Amino acid sequence: MTEWQKTNWRNKPRVQMPDYTDAAALAKVEAQLSQYPPLVFAGEARRLKQHLGAAGRGEAFLLQGGDCAESFEQFSADAIRDTFKVMLQMAMVLTYGAKVPVVKVGRMAGQFAKPRSAPTEVVDGVELPSYRGDIINELAFTPEARIPNPGKMLQAYTQAAATLNLLRAFSTGGFADMSRVHSWTLGFTDEQDVQKYSEIADRIQDTIDFMDAAGITAETTHEFSTVEFYTSHESLLLEYEEALTRLDSTSGNWLAGSGHMIWIGDRTRQPDGAHVEFCRGVLNPIGLKCGPTTTAEDLKVLMSKLNPENEEGRLTLIARFGAGKASEHLPRLIKAVKEEGAKVTWVCDPMHGNTIKSATGYKTRPFESVLREVRDFFGVHQAEGTVPGGVHFEMTGLDVTECIGGVRAVTEEDLSDRYHTACDPRLNASQSLELAFLVAEELTNLRRDRSKREAS
Ligand code: PEP
Ligand code: CO
Repeated sequence: MTEWQKTNWRNKPRVQMPDYTDAAALAKVEAQLSQYPPLVFAGEARRLKQHLGAAGRGEAFLLQGGDCAESFEQFSADAIRDTFKVMLQMAMVLTYGAKVPVVKVGRMAGQFAKPRSAPTEVVDGVELPSYRGDIINELAFTPEARIPNPGKMLQAYTQAAATLNLLRAFSTGGFADMSRVHSWTLGFTDEQDVQKYSEIADRIQDTIDFMDAAGITAETTHEFSTVEFYTSHESLLLEYEEALTRLDSTSGNWLAGSGHMIWIGDRTRQPDGAHVEFCRGVLNPIGLKCGPTTTAEDLKVLMSKLNPENEEGRLTLIARFGAGKASEHLPRLIKAVKEEGAKVTWVCDPMHGNTIKSATGYKTRPFESVLREVRDFFGVHQAEGTVPGGVHFEMTGLDVTECIGGVRAVTEEDLSDRYHTACDPRLNASQSLELAFLVAEELTNLRRDRSKREAS
């Protein structure tokens, strides 16, 4: 293969990217972004890679979550805080089930660009280009709003920088203090809800009380007052990615400075396409969405392109098939991985294969389907003797009504109450926490089975 350059993707076929009409304006933005500081450092990306490697071996578990699309309009410190907080609460519950460290990665500080299933959208007989995320155009249904505007990349960069700044402050400045996070039952105000998860909830509470009594507190123990939190997004808008790519002087390798982890979407994973070409050359951990149309042959090519050195933690395969479909698709992909002897980290995205249109006209996801896909995923890995390394959710800390179901059931009629997503429907705080409990149960069962097998 010829030597990688950050501009080489420009010679490859591209899909899902905007056609900017004003070349001069685009060039100006790219030049400007190229001079801005990177948002993350190479050492952080390498550290995350190690953690993801551990998740691939079953020695850690990945929790990746956040908005489908971050929005300029809904940008606020409170929203960031709430999502961060729910993720820490979920991580605590998952740690209980997995008995291994939970690696926390937000779909945050850069998750702005969206692939779409159709290039245009028709409303009341009017056809306009699709909305592609706030970094590209606007959600409003007018011809002007839908024109791709390169200047939006600068606003996205600024918002990403401010988001990351706040996340870094929360992570180390006391907010991640266990004693604050342990008010995690807040998501469940009803006695009944707490009851449903009382076994795990009580045990976590007991552990926290015990540690408090033993004097293991945020004041005495650094681990309880700080947390490692990483950022991730889909590497879709390659002009933005290229402009933030920097040479890491310690290793001589290239870093995508836009976020710690970047992933390739289900619609942009063509082995000879622009997105794979860009991602193969940067040192960051790379995610690769695997859907029903991913073939074993393509996966093999993609693994060798994206991880030629077979480095642990470099490649996370994010399975997103839809409820009931994992057993149809996952085994052949696991087989391909085994045949290649490839080191990968398997993660379940139970969101993107489970989007439906409600009778009331909203795009939604049934909590039941989300849960079922997670269970399928665990089941297949158990049968194959491979490691389920994590989960990937679209979620928010806000009390939205976008996905139906959950213990505090959101109904189809409720969807219109607080449907705020700029793109796909997200789990709300209560649904996210509930899911964490259910995943923790799966992890507990898995551990029990494993130790039973080892004992016999
Ligand atoms: C996403 O993660 O928001 C997304 C569009 O996923 P996928 O590429 O798997 O459809
Ligand atoms: Co989405």
